[in-house]
Amino acid sequence: MKKLRVGLIGLGGVAEVHLEGYKEVDEIKVVAGAELREDRLNQMVEKWGISGYTSYEEMLEKEELDIASVLTPARSHREVTERAAEYGINVLCEKPIAVTLDDARAMIKKCSKEGVKFCYGSSYRFLCACRKAKEMIDEGMLGDILLLMETFIGGQGPQKYKDLGPHHYPKGGPGGGGMGLVDHGIHLVDIFRWLTGSEVGAVAGRGNYSSMPPETEYLTMIFKNGAIGQLIYNEATYPSDMPVEGIFSWGGSWDIHGNLLPGGGWNAYPGSIRVHGEKGALRIFHYANKLFFFREERQEQIQVPDRPMPSNFALQMESFAKCVMKDDEPEVTGIDGLKALQVVLAAYESFETQKIVPIKPVL
Ligand SMILES: NC(=O)c1ccc[n+]([C@@H]2O[C@H](COP(=O)([O-])OP(=O)(O)OC[C@H]3O[C@@H](n4cnc5c(N)ncnc54)[C@H](O)[C@@H]3O)[C@@H](O)[C@H]2O)c1
Repeated sequence: MKKLRVGLIGLGGVAEVHLEGYKEVDEIKVVAGAELREDRLNQMVEKWGISGYTSYEEMLEKEELDIASVLTPARSHREVTERAAEYGINVLCEKPIAVTLDDARAMIKKCSKEGVKFCYGSSYRFLCACRKAKEMIDEGMLGDILLLMETFIGGQGPQKYKDLGPHHYPKGGPGGGGMGLVDHGIHLVDIFRWLTGSEVGAVAGRGNYSSMPPETEYLTMIFKNGAIGQLIYNEATYPSDMPVEGIFSWGGSWDIHGNLLPGGGWNAYPGSIRVHGEKGALRIFHYANKLFFFREERQEQIQVPDRPMPSNFALQMESFAKCVMKDDEPEVTGIDGLKALQVVLAAYESFETQKIVPIKPVL
């Protein structure tokens, strides 16, 4: 089988887990990477045995790539995606798709015009505990979904709060920390849409701004099927979880400070998603790769395939590579990325206007 040639643009934190995951994908070969910081580039070239470029355009020009993984900060996703599309290269782009709806629409339009595929990097959809939960919901095991929730409250007070900074999100615009609404919550918006099989009808919320002091962020999503999605984040206070609420984690994850934790061992503050339905409820420990099912007659742990993070990045790439080979539509599209961004940005409008914001057709 001829392997697809993959190049990575941006070799920072997330590139490590993409590369680790891609080792499991038979359909591709990672041939090159581009990174602005020369020291980091040299380190990654040596570690991963790929060709290195400080100019991503030079890599696009020379490497005859089939797929470019866009792993730069969100503010550059549009520019990089459009250039890759001009070279006729299919794009897998990390979340958030972009920092404005106009940028996201332009990316989708450009890829369509150039005849290349665009896969939105919703890596949570490829976490095995989330996939199993989706399967159970689709089989009707929870009945109608009523409520989906995630909270992430922690940190070490405002002084130790880490903003992602203006190289990720333009100063004064929507942004904030790595476990906040825009950068992290956008994952949940996408998977809540996917799990419920419904669109968000209206939103109330508040989000942090790039390079500004942190606030408590929240997003209430009123889905068209009646379900409520609720996110609450604060990375600049202190956690109040009891030690007993931790879990042995099967996979790697990001902690409340945005640091990557290895898999295995005790995780005192594991990420988890609650899904409540008419007939039962699920607790998804997405990175710990564990799933619990609660209903009237019994409570049980549900078996989940043993492929925790970073295998979700493998499953994501495998899905995209197969769609490139078969000329199919990607499992997660640019429209999904655009819709998730629209919902997150509506939280800001809601707080500014002090109104519930209806979600209108976005294209
Ligand atoms: N799916 C997930 O679970 C997940 C986790 C973390 C980050 N992310 C996303 O991945 C993206 C990158 O995040 P990160 O944490 O790796 O950030 P990072 O700052 O660690 O790395 C980004 C890298 O891109 C490089 N870069 C910027 N512009 C470039 C250009 N024009 N050409 C070449 N290199 C360039 C920077 O020098 C930096 O090394 C963001 O969109 C982020 O939201 C996703």
